[in-house]
Amino acid sequence: MSGNNAPLNHVFYRNQNWRYPKVSHGKGIYLYDENGKAYMDGCSGSAVANIGHGNVEVADFAAEQMKTIAYTHLSRWTVDPIERCAKKIVEWAPEGLNHVYFVSGGSEATETAIKMARQYYVERDGQGASKWKIISKWNSFHGNTLGALSMTGITGRRKMYDPILVNFPKIPQFYHYRNPWHAKTLRETSILAAEALEEEILRQGPENVAAFITEPIVGSAAPGVYPDPIYFEMVREICDRYDMLLIIDEVMSGFGRTGKRFAVEHFNVIPDILTVAKGMSSGYTPIGAAIVNDEIFNTIMINGSGHFVHGHTYGGNPLSCAVADKVLSIIERENWVDNAATQGKYLMQKLQHLNNKPIVGDIRGIGLMIGIEFVSDKKTKKPFEQDDRLQGEIMEACLEEGLVVYPGGGCFIGYKGDHILLAPPINITRHEVDLLVEKLERGIENVLDRLSIGRRQYHEKTHYNDSANRECSDENDDASCPPYVRGNRKKHTSLCQTRRFNRTYPRSRREFEADKRPESVQGSSRSIGRDDC
Ligand SMILES: Cc1ncc(COP(=O)(O)O)c(C=O)c1O
Repeated sequence: MSGNNAPLNHVFYRNQNWRYPKVSHGKGIYLYDENGKAYMDGCSGSAVANIGHGNVEVADFAAEQMKTIAYTHLSRWTVDPIERCAKKIVEWAPEGLNHVYFVSGGSEATETAIKMARQYYVERDGQGASKWKIISKWNSFHGNTLGALSMTGITGRRKMYDPILVNFPKIPQFYHYRNPWHAKTLRETSILAAEALEEEILRQGPENVAAFITEPIVGSAAPGVYPDPIYFEMVREICDRYDMLLIIDEVMSGFGRTGKRFAVEHFNVIPDILTVAKGMSSGYTPIGAAIVNDEIFNTIMINGSGHFVHGHTYGGNPLSCAVADKVLSIIERENWVDNAATQGKYLMQKLQHLNNKPIVGDIRGIGLMIGIEFVSDKKTKKPFEQDDRLQGEIMEACLEEGLVVYPGGGCFIGYKGDHILLAPPINITRHEVDLLVEKLERGIENVLDRLSIGRRQYHEKTHYNDSANRECSDENDDASCPPYVRGNRKKHTSLCQTRRFNRTYPRSRREFEADKRPESVQGSSRSIGRDDC
């Protein structure tokens, strides 16, 4: 049974257990709720709002573009903003990635990449082409649509949909803190992780493998985890040797987040396909892309059929392209990529003293893409139990302090392990970094207090006896009921029953009830505070 904390209206929210504060507006690195409380956006939503909120220059520019032309279908028309945006993206991208296939977000970008890889081999080798498998990794995230989820290595997100996913092979991540080889150095872990790719190619048969996909710095699956540069040196060489494509997923790390235009620059590697989204428009419009090299483009579009069998309605719409071009021009003009490098270094330095907290296990990352992993025992790296909901606790405690962090879990063999991602807007100032760390530290301290007095007692005291938050007392009490159910007896009765249940059984009883449900269903209701992309 769900906690039924989401507002009762017609929105199908992502998580009915979450009490959603209502945002009235955003400005700079802050979001403001309807009561005027300010929240520092310490994760830019999900590493999206790279230039912060409420940018009037972008808003005015978008309004003008809408008056000119907002939408055309890419199968019939070309428009200046699309061409300008593609040119800008290619200027930003690593050398040789000269062709931009526009989509509307990250999952569409990674789906596009694997379809492009398959079509590349079909165009090159003919209809009988055997290459189709995509090797990916555990502790990785490439999106929630079925193709993207088939590559994603997070058990919690896959479990429910396993029967309808493609069974792509998975290898271990370059996750030094929890590396399965007990390697002592990051370099050693990175070498072993790269060798695992070669082993898997041989296991699958190189003739069947079309591509390998990897994030350069891991996002939500194990935030901030990155390899030694040797990893990409080896992986690039392995992909070339076995005639397969290297897809690098910079949906989260791209466009300045790590203190370089793209994170691949930290590792001196050039992929065949680079997938991007999020920071590309900083959230002002939905957009993403697969950026590809001449070899793929020429094989499909010039020397091949000339038609990539794919496409989405909003791919390459003039409004999103114009806005992305504008956002990137502002980042260039204001030097915010360099700012991300400077403030990222400062943030990492300031975070170091959190290492003395008993639950902080690992702090890692590059630029303004930093992960903190929490453990119940620092020595053994033992994770918290799922029921402890540590990630949700940290997020809630930080929200109380006016800081938004991006929680996640499953970094420890898929179902345990708690972490947060810090990814504030890349135009954050040094003073704001100081504030962020202060708020975070207070949030962690509050969780430590809760742990010491007993989490359940704390929650029951502060969260679940607040009858003021539960709207009406019975089905005849129309006045105190939300407009959504007023005058509708059926909905009213069901709402009141839920409320009565919640009042009668405090949270512990509801958890007990939840425990009796099948594991696959439990996963979703337990994910208080978990983000999904
Ligand atoms: C690395 C990576 N790839 C793909 C995606 C999926 O992007 P979207 O949520 O826009 O579909 C994400 C989202 O967080 C991501 O971090």
